[in-house]
Order: sequence, then C-alpha cells, then structure tokens
Amino acid sequence: MKDALGSVNSVLVLGGGSEIALATMRALVARRARTVVLAARHPEELEPAARELRAAGATTVETVRFDAEDDAEAHGRLVDDVFDRHRDIDLVLAAAGVLGDQSRDERDGAAARAVISTNFLGLVSALVPCVERMRAQGHGTLCVLSTVAGERPRRSNFVYGSSKAGLDAFAQGLGDSLAGTGVNVVVVRPGFVHTRMTEGLDAAPLATTPEKVAEATLEGIARGAHTVWAPPALRYVMSVLRHVPRPIFRRLPL
Ligand SMILES: NC(=O)c1ccc[n+]([C@@H]2O[C@H](COP(=O)([O-])OP(=O)(O)OC[C@H]3O[C@@H](n4cnc5c(N)ncnc54)[C@H](OP(=O)(O)O)[C@@H]3O)[C@@H](O)[C@H]2O)c1
Repeated sequence: MKDALGSVNSVLVLGGGSEIALATMRALVARRARTVVLAARHPEELEPAARELRAAGATTVETVRFDAEDDAEAHGRLVDDVFDRHRDIDLVLAAAGVLGDQSRDERDGAAARAVISTNFLGLVSALVPCVERMRAQGHGTLCVLSTVAGERPRRSNFVYGSSKAGLDAFAQGLGDSLAGTGVNVVVVRPGFVHTRMTEGLDAAPLATTPEKVAEATLEGIARGAHTVWAPPALRYVMSVLRHVPRPIFRRLPL
C-alpha cells in the first residue's frame, strides 16, 4: 500500500533482471519502496541484485520464476501467488523484452514469432491478471517499457518495433479503459539506452542511461503521466518522424 505521501511501497517486476528495471528499483528503494519481487527466467541469477536492494533498505526482496513464453495459466498462477502473499502491490513494471536479430527475424518465421511472443503476447498474458488484482485492491500502477521503435517502424528493426507497437497499443488502450478505477497505466518510450540489450550497437542520437530512464519513469508515475519519453526531447523528434511522407522516410538512413 502506498504510504501517506503517496510513495510506492511494493513492486512486482516482470523481467526482473533488466538493467532499466534494476536501475528503477534502486531509485525506488532510495525513495522508501520496501517490497520488491523480481520475476525472471533465472531467478537464482538475481540474488546479487536482491542482496543489493536489501542492503539499500528494502525489507522484502524476492526472486521468483517468470518466463514470458509460459502460457497464460502459468502467468495467472504467478500473479495470484505474488498478490496473495503480499496482499497489495502498488506497481507492476513490465520490463521483459528481447531485441532479436532483424536480419534473421525477417527471414525466419519462428524467430520473428519468438520476438513477438516474448515482447507482446507474453507481457499481455501476464499483465491481464495483474489488472484484475489491481482493480480488486482499488489502486495501482502498471508501468510498461515500450520504445520509440514502436512509434514508427523502421526497416532496420521492424520485427522488434512491431512487437513493441502491439504492446504499446495494448497498454495505451488499457490505460484509457481503466480511467476512474484507481489503476493507472504508464507507457515508457525510451530511445537508445546503454544496456546489455544494445551492447555492441552504435549508439543512436539522444542515447541515454538506465538511471536516466529510471528517473524519468518515476517522475512520470508520480505525476500520473500516461506516456513518458526518455529523454523527453524524443517526443518532439518522433512527432516529426511519424509524419514524414513515406517516399522521404524510405530514403532516410533508418
Ligand atoms: N536498451 C534499450 O535501448 C531499450 C530502449 C527502449 C526500450 N527498451 C525496453 O526496455 C526493456 C528492458 O530492456 P533493457 O534495456 O533493460 O535490457 P536487458 O537488460 O537485456 O533486459 C531485458 C530483460 O528481459 C528479460 N527477458 C527476455 N526474454 C524473457 C522471457 N521470455 N521471459 C522473461 N524475461 C525475459 C531478460 O531476462 P534474461 O536475464 O533471462 O535474459 C532481461 O532481464 C525491454 O522491454 C526493452 O525492449 C530497451
């Protein structure tokens, strides 16, 4: 339950090993969050991160198994287990995601399907039961890590971009459908962030860090934003790029 100042006290992270998610958890624990559940494919690998969050002041840090590729029943069981044991979860952060390999994915249906299944279908099937539990508790925030890559798909990463466009559209519509229920949805659209996911790639303009995305995310959650751009200037860049006529768009080095 949020405290008297409205601070987030308890969090479930879907994709708990994400560098952006862990930077967000460090910043949240520094702001008095006390319960953190890190859900990941290999929870045992998150013990060092859990120890760090406990040392920083979190009283309960758990690591539990979550695979976005599991079926909806498994996701429902996981969500019920976490909400039953902690009674109240203030924030669910959906961070799991894979970048894929565009040159392979656009030629290999199974590989393309895996990217879309993880980034879109897997998170939708885990978020739906979270929504039900948050509706029942009467409050909560669902924060979804989307990306600018979903705003206007580019030929260099349209498989990933389309998976995130689906997730982004789901989250935006969900947020509208939940207006007035006490449950909010915040969609975060970072640009290029220096993490494991982008290691070895040339940084894009306006590249940023997990810590800066974390700060922008928490600031957005605190003010009840529905969309957060990280960095904020990307909002204006994308509003121009979205409207570039296709013949010109195709000639851009994107
Ligand atoms: N980095 C960027 O430039 C950038 C920009 C915009 C948006 N984003 C989005 O931000 C989110 C976090 O990315 P990040 O930069 O922090 O990268 P990251 O450190 O690589 O985090 C991605 C996380 O997703 C998890 N994951 C992958 N497949 C999964 C599955 N089937 N089930 C459960 N978890 C799975 C990974 O777990 P394992 O440890 O098991 O591999 C990893 O912890 C992603 O959704 C990404 O699309 C990233």
